[in-house]
Amino acid sequence: MNEAVDPSAVDLSVRMTAPSGPLTLTHPVLPASGTFGYGEEFEPFLPPGTFSAIVPKSISVEQRPGNPPPRAIETPAGLLNSIGLQNPGLDLFVSDYLPRLQRYGVPILVNVVGKSIEDYCQVVETLEGRDLVLGYELNVSCPNVKEGLRFGLDPDATGALISAVREKTGGVIMAKLTPNVTDIAEHAVAAQQAGADAVSMINTIRAMAVDWRKGKSRIGTETGGLSGPAIRPVALRMVWEAAQAVDIPVCAIGGISNAEHILEFVSVGASMVQVGTHLYREPTCLISILSELRELLAQEGYSSLESLRGSFGSAPDRLPESSRPVG
Ligand SMILES: Cc1cc2nc3c(=O)[nH]c(=O)nc-3n(C[C@H](O)[C@H](O)[C@H](O)COP(=O)(O)O)c2cc1C
Repeated sequence: MNEAVDPSAVDLSVRMTAPSGPLTLTHPVLPASGTFGYGEEFEPFLPPGTFSAIVPKSISVEQRPGNPPPRAIETPAGLLNSIGLQNPGLDLFVSDYLPRLQRYGVPILVNVVGKSIEDYCQVVETLEGRDLVLGYELNVSCPNVKEGLRFGLDPDATGALISAVREKTGGVIMAKLTPNVTDIAEHAVAAQQAGADAVSMINTIRAMAVDWRKGKSRIGTETGGLSGPAIRPVALRMVWEAAQAVDIPVCAIGGISNAEHILEFVSVGASMVQVGTHLYREPTCLISILSELRELLAQEGYSSLESLRGSFGSAPDRLPESSRPVG
């Protein structure tokens, strides 16, 4: 039998490296960009600083009004949205939103979106050195705006963008990849080669919902992005493929709503995760997720999250004794 592990002693921390040096997140759970606003909406439910780092809604240089309504509808086991990257723009973000985010006292990974490499660089340059700005999640993968996938569908374009941003910051660069490609591992490798410190995946899957009687889309644009439980198996497959292809940490996103899901993603190689659509259903879920993560890992004899990482499909001796096949 494996020695019993005390759940309270299970180490959930995540270690990463950026050019500015090594850094540690207290646990692996972040909010997914766009599903957490800028934190304020969450204050009545949960101190936003309970997340190990905050990923706000995408920020672009210019203010964006977003797409026409309706902007979201429920689909079987999912949510179809076409928000269209509505955001206050860089100036207002710096003057109003960032100071509020800084009050939460945890690192901020600013999600950046742009129409050109210069746009991304301008956001990063403006935010460099600001208190608690740990780095940037570069959104190259929004399916809901015309120019959103311009970078994300072409690994060379993703690489060129990351190389340019790399020159502007020693902070974390996490490239948020799109699932709307044939080979996500190729894109993850391009991101790593260009200097990304981590990759996150997946953004939403391009999808539709139509009203055949009216001959119209059920959302304000013809296509939108699908999220929620429906996309989790796709995300799991993509995280597994990417994690085998790169050495940098992979942040898993897609339909995660509980600790079991997180451990599935970690077993296929993820180092950390983001919870998105589920936050609408259960904004306080992080509390139970963190205690269940510790309990489930301890039950199976793991003293740390990291010791589970990548165990899927591995030789039996990588699994703790209690999980090894008998006979
Ligand atoms: C309403 C909504 C708005 C979103 N806005 C953004 C955004 O601004 N930037 C971004 O990178 N991803 C955005 N996303 C994608 C999520 O961050 C996440 O990648 C995706 O929803 C999959 O995770 P989930 O199934 O847990 O929601 C948005 C998703 C939803 C549902």
